[in-house]
Amino acid sequence: MRIIKYDDIMSAKNQGRKKVVAHSASLVSPYARETALRFGIEIVENLSIKREENNMRKPFIAGNWKMNKTNRETVKLLNNLKPLVSDAGDVDIMVAPPYTSLTLAAEILTDNNIMLGAQNMHQEESSAYTGEITADMLIEAGCSWVILGHSERRKYFGCSDELVNKKLKKALSKGLNPIVCVGEQLEEREAGNTFEILRRQVTEGLKEINDPVTIAYEPVWAIGTGKTASPEQADDAHKFIREMLADIYNPEIAEDIRILYGGSVKPTNISELMAKKNIDGGLIGGASLNAESFSQIVKF
Ligand code: PGA
Repeated sequence: MRIIKYDDIMSAKNQGRKKVVAHSASLVSPYARETALRFGIEIVENLSIKREENNMRKPFIAGNWKMNKTNRETVKLLNNLKPLVSDAGDVDIMVAPPYTSLTLAAEILTDNNIMLGAQNMHQEESSAYTGEITADMLIEAGCSWVILGHSERRKYFGCSDELVNKKLKKALSKGLNPIVCVGEQLEEREAGNTFEILRRQVTEGLKEINDPVTIAYEPVWAIGTGKTASPEQADDAHKFIREMLADIYNPEIAEDIRILYGGSVKPTNISELMAKKNIDGGLIGGASLNAESFSQIVKF
């Protein structure tokens, strides 16, 4: 059961939204109701938001655990999560724990509907790169997915578009499924450069790539900040990316590529996002660290 809380109303207020949608399986706390009334925000209830009927892409919900969870905590989280999503139906689910938990996670997720991914990977086959990890190591640990070019890798670890491209080529050559992350910083959005940044990241990142790859649009200003892009803002960016993919591949392939949204996705905002034509899933950080909230997102 999802609960619409005071925080959800305040975040809608801070983002200038006039409506908060309560999914059919949501409860609204009395304080949230009072707050909404005070700020003139409408709570739309009993509305089961449907994905657009013409969106044939299978939803994909991926959890990026970042630098969280020891082995012991991984066991606990996955054992709690498994029964909660076992009946999730037609949705792809992936979790990306830290490297140290991958082998253990793979064992726990045997014969399960949750796939395993890594958060990064080195572009070389093997060599003297202290602290790095190769595609083969990830595959042998049980990964079928790898996240590339996450904004935190770009910001703190110098991951450039060129590096993303090299990593992507290596991942594809090994049969790993990549999720390539793109997204603008706050100053770039405010300066009206969002699409220019996305154009650069997508064209440079996907240079000389023929295989379709999953993309995650993650506006940097929305990551871990509690500030989600509005469904319209996200859909506009996704549409723009899909148009670029049509140029890079062709319109049919672009139509099939899944573009995930990431940045403060929560059980209370996933339905609105997923109702948008070009949004095919979510890359979830904070809310993937708790079995209850991640499963609610999976079952948007
Ligand atoms: P967040 O992170 O959900 O905590 O904002 C998303 C991400 O960085 O992938």
